[in-house]
Amino acid sequence: MKSLILVFCLSVCIIPVCTAATKADPSAPHLEKIGHATQLIVDGKPYLALAGELHNSSSSSLEYLKPIWPKMTAMNLNTVLASVCWDCIEPEEGKFDFSVVDGIIHGARENNLHLVLLWFGSWKNGVSTYPPLWVKTDSKRFPRAHDQEGNALEILSTFSKDARDADAHAFAALMRHLREIDATDHTVLMVQVENEVGVLGDTRDRSPVANQAFAGPVPKELMNYLQQHRADLIPEFRQVWENAGGKTSGTWEQVFGSGKPADIKIPVRTLSPPLTEQEHETEWRNLHWPVDEIFMAWQYASYVNHVAEAGKAEYNIPMYVNAWLQQRDHAWPGTYPSGGPLPQVMDIWHFAAPNIDILGPDLYVPEFEELCQRYTREGNPLFIPESAGDARGAANFLDAIGSHNGIGFSPFGIDSDPAPDGPLARAYGAVAQLAPMILKHQQEGTIEGTALSKTHTEQTLNLGDYAITFKLEKFWNREAPDYGSAIVMETGHDEFLIAANGVTVYFSPKSPGTDKKIVGLGTVEEGSFADGKWVPGRHLNGDEILSGKGLRFRPDGYSMERVKLYTYE
Ligand code: DGJ
Repeated sequence: MKSLILVFCLSVCIIPVCTAATKADPSAPHLEKIGHATQLIVDGKPYLALAGELHNSSSSSLEYLKPIWPKMTAMNLNTVLASVCWDCIEPEEGKFDFSVVDGIIHGARENNLHLVLLWFGSWKNGVSTYPPLWVKTDSKRFPRAHDQEGNALEILSTFSKDARDADAHAFAALMRHLREIDATDHTVLMVQVENEVGVLGDTRDRSPVANQAFAGPVPKELMNYLQQHRADLIPEFRQVWENAGGKTSGTWEQVFGSGKPADIKIPVRTLSPPLTEQEHETEWRNLHWPVDEIFMAWQYASYVNHVAEAGKAEYNIPMYVNAWLQQRDHAWPGTYPSGGPLPQVMDIWHFAAPNIDILGPDLYVPEFEELCQRYTREGNPLFIPESAGDARGAANFLDAIGSHNGIGFSPFGIDSDPAPDGPLARAYGAVAQLAPMILKHQQEGTIEGTALSKTHTEQTLNLGDYAITFKLEKFWNREAPDYGSAIVMETGHDEFLIAANGVTVYFSPKSPGTDKKIVGLGTVEEGSFADGKWVPGRHLNGDEILSGKGLRFRPDGYSMERVKLYTYE
């Protein structure tokens, strides 16, 4: 604590940015591949981030934050995502003020919480409202992107080396400051670099310098990478390249196909007229002009990598970017940020931004499971920086950590209505008890998860020798709940631990067609964990195990059951 007080006194000053790279400190938070999972390691142990993201402006005032901290703890969070804005820390060029950053760290520590800091630098939700005024008012030095009519957008151009370097300079100062005040405590676990980057309002930057680059060749290093990794590229990306002839050199349009037809105007944010339900299902995924998105992805990834690299040279902890995803009514690049870290351009991001450790989806869309699968390709660890925090979000959380080795989950706007007894708090409470076990089973590949809803009422998952079917169903005179979720871990031979709410669970042999065995519930015990030890509760039988057919988890909270199975013929 003493060191923090000292830093408080020193933090309003001109800080020269040290350019000497610091070596990666093995005790600092980092990512590590252990067995089947890449995990976040904090103080030498795998860590599961039960997180929530504050509203954008909440962390700009320490007074405002004061009553929020204990509410986060009461909701069973262990991590808070809080923004650090460029215009707050560098209001005058070269003069840094870290007093608010220090206060955020102090508040988190006092409340036993960790932090993930969000660097709102050049871009936030595509636009550039967070750079300081000295940047925003000097469009000669810091030019903006242009749309197809030649209008300047409120978006710093990725082609501005001055903007990139100014952003990197400020970010490096922040990371250096974090190293000074947090390299021992490790309150800050990761940093998000920028926020939902990409061009909005058009499919790409059309300023003269951008047009010139677009008419020029695809950089040789990118072409070489694509050729070397041709077989392993994300299939939808490879298809775009192959559909255009799979060329190994040429302009962007020669290599990736032609861009937007000139006579179609891109509506801002929503399609006009909106797609019908039928069209949503069949067409929305195809409605985009890949070349512009690929071109912008190269630009944004290169810029962001430069900023992240400058930061890591000062303090090397995991860094990630978050994506505003393509949605049904935001189907074309330009209606969602064009060039952001979307799954179809992951290859570009992975190659151009090696200093970014995770591409994270802001997962509000209904296609949760599909996107978890797309975002865990190419070894990308799953961290969900934004999502819903309601019953649907709480259910999805279990799916993310159970089926996709998620390292963390973070509903957005967690401070607007903090409910200590809400679905998220309950899910976090249950998972907090199980976290060491979950992390171990992620490493061993012996865990699964499911999220059920009215439109997805059943799922069968294979674990060990069994197929385990989860259902959301009417039970006696009780209607099926709207949501249900579960994680299941194979804890031994024929033994499983399940934490769930609202679902019924049935076991059968993994290959029901060929395997004639019938699965019986040997023993079923409910209970909970205290200090990592199982505390048994009721011995369940009779109605509580559906007369031997399956398990039944109540919908009004999470409960845990250990089951030992047997088989007979
Ligand atoms: C996504 C952004 O990343 C957040 O900062 C916030 O603006 C939310 N959208 C608002 O829903």
